[in-house]
Amino acid sequence: RIRLCRMIDFPVVTDYRGNLTFIEECKHVPFEIKRVYYLYDVPTGATRGGHAHIELEQVIIALSGSFEVIIDDGYTRKKVFLNRPHYGLYIPRGIWRELVNFSSNSVALVLASMPYDEKDYIRDYEKFRKMVREGFWDESDKRV
Ligand code: TYD
Repeated sequence: RIRLCRMIDFPVVTDYRGNLTFIEECKHVPFEIKRVYYLYDVPTGATRGGHAHIELEQVIIALSGSFEVIIDDGYTRKKVFLNRPHYGLYIPRGIWRELVNFSSNSVALVLASMPYDEKDYIRDYEKFRKMVREGFWDESDKRV
């Protein structure tokens, strides 16, 4: 299922006054944006994320600086380097993710398909693997 994760290249309006990128829900990202949050002032060496979601989909963007996103579908693990504000990494439901190697002054913007709900989180990797093996997300693959 790792192939369901993909990079999205957002529109860029280049201008001598500075570049501009915009994102519209259901057009540039494949869901309605219900929440926006961002990680910043991340100390060197810190790891964020470390969970999967039951339903939530999201797009992660390095608005400033750089970091890596480890994505894991329970079988395959991949590392994606983000360092440009016009690229987003789309992560569907049922993917374990960790954000690592933040550069100083980096900002990770997250566009999410749901409001915050702790019940949607799976924070135990072994529990996540068990759900994958039991086919918990197999049907939802067809919706992506
Ligand atoms: P957490 O999901 O652990 O952060 P990350 O996965 O990015 O490392 O969230 C940290 C805390 O912030 C946790 O107590 C829940 C809270 N939180 C909210 O209240 N609303 C939100 O939208 C998010 C993302 C987190």
